[in-house]
Amino acid sequence: MPGIVSPLPREEDGGKVEQTLRPSTLGEFIGQAELLAQLELAIAAARKRGEALDHILLFGPPGLGKTTLAYIIAAEMGGQMTATSGPVIERKDDLASLLTDLQTGDVLFIDEIHRLNRVIEECLYPAVEDFKFDIMIGEGAHAKSIKLKLKPFTLVGATTRSGLLTAPLRTRFGMALRLGFYSEADMVKIVLRSAAILNLETEEAGAIEIARRSRGTPRIANRLLRRVRDWAEVKGDGRVTAEAARAALDLLQVDSLGLDPMDRLLLEVLIDKFGGGPVGINTMAVATGESEDTIVDVFEPYLIQIGFLKRTTRGRVATPLAWRHLGRTPPENGQDIENVQDAEDAEPDLFNPDGAN
Ligand SMILES: Nc1ncnc2c1ncn2[C@@H]1O[C@H](COP(=O)(O)OP(=O)(O)O)[C@@H](O)[C@H]1O
Ligand SMILES: [Mg+2]
Repeated sequence: MPGIVSPLPREEDGGKVEQTLRPSTLGEFIGQAELLAQLELAIAAARKRGEALDHILLFGPPGLGKTTLAYIIAAEMGGQMTATSGPVIERKDDLASLLTDLQTGDVLFIDEIHRLNRVIEECLYPAVEDFKFDIMIGEGAHAKSIKLKLKPFTLVGATTRSGLLTAPLRTRFGMALRLGFYSEADMVKIVLRSAAILNLETEEAGAIEIARRSRGTPRIANRLLRRVRDWAEVKGDGRVTAEAARAALDLLQVDSLGLDPMDRLLLEVLIDKFGGGPVGINTMAVATGESEDTIVDVFEPYLIQIGFLKRTTRGRVATPLAWRHLGRTPPENGQDIENVQDAEDAEPDLFNPDGAN
């Protein structure tokens, strides 16, 4: 209920460890093979032509590597990375100073780009299209508009909500790359890599246990690994074993599928209070005390991915799988989920292999 504290804060903690664990080259980046193939080709081609890389949009749920990839793109292109975020750029002057500082081949990374204000967004169009920026000089009657010439740079935008991007902004990107949840095999590699960087002796079985319970999300894996390390150092022999992983994750109430108390609360509300749905997102937010945005961005994508939740035009619906996972018996002729129209078109998937131009 309101006030429940998830043991796994999903926001970027900006911590030093997070930085240390971040892969810094394409070669170190695990998984996302199709995405990497496209990116690698684009980078190689731009380098061969001696040009700035086309603007790139990265989208997908939090913790899957968008920010990491932005840094990697800058490094692979031999440019500097300037990182900012949509809501932070408030005035046209803020944008002007960001843009005029960029050198040829640099990357401007705008996180949460769907949250740019409209005025700023419109100023960005000529900047990314023609590397030009209009500014006003002087005041009152003497004010005049001049066109600044910018160096060719690459805009990398990241968003958890591609559906909220305006069509004009979307078309400015030469590539839109989608990050999906990682497979268990990739997650095991990620856990082992992080454990090696942290100098942790790790048994394969321990890594597998953490990988399985990390919701296909590297940021969560890294966080769980640190909690398992705590357990191993205090209660175990310091090694990341299956036993240490199980004990530490049980303590955090992360279940066998990686669902934590907040995930389960969402499903419980849906099932116990609303008979499995459909329930509107606003009602879900009120009933759980979590914001709509967080439910949509952070919790729902994985529940949908594992087939526990469906977004329909009439609201959210829990599937029989979810009922059973919570130990409830799904209604015999309950919600006719298959016949409820999928509401995905309310949030269009902008992935467009042709580059949306
Ligand atoms: N493909 C990957 N291989 C290894 N570690 C990764 C990978 N993707 C993400 N990570 C780890 O997960 C953390 C979160 O990634 P991040 O780029 O901040 O996600 P996002 O920006 O999508 O929220 C990073 O610190 C990094 O250590
Ligand atoms: Mg990020």
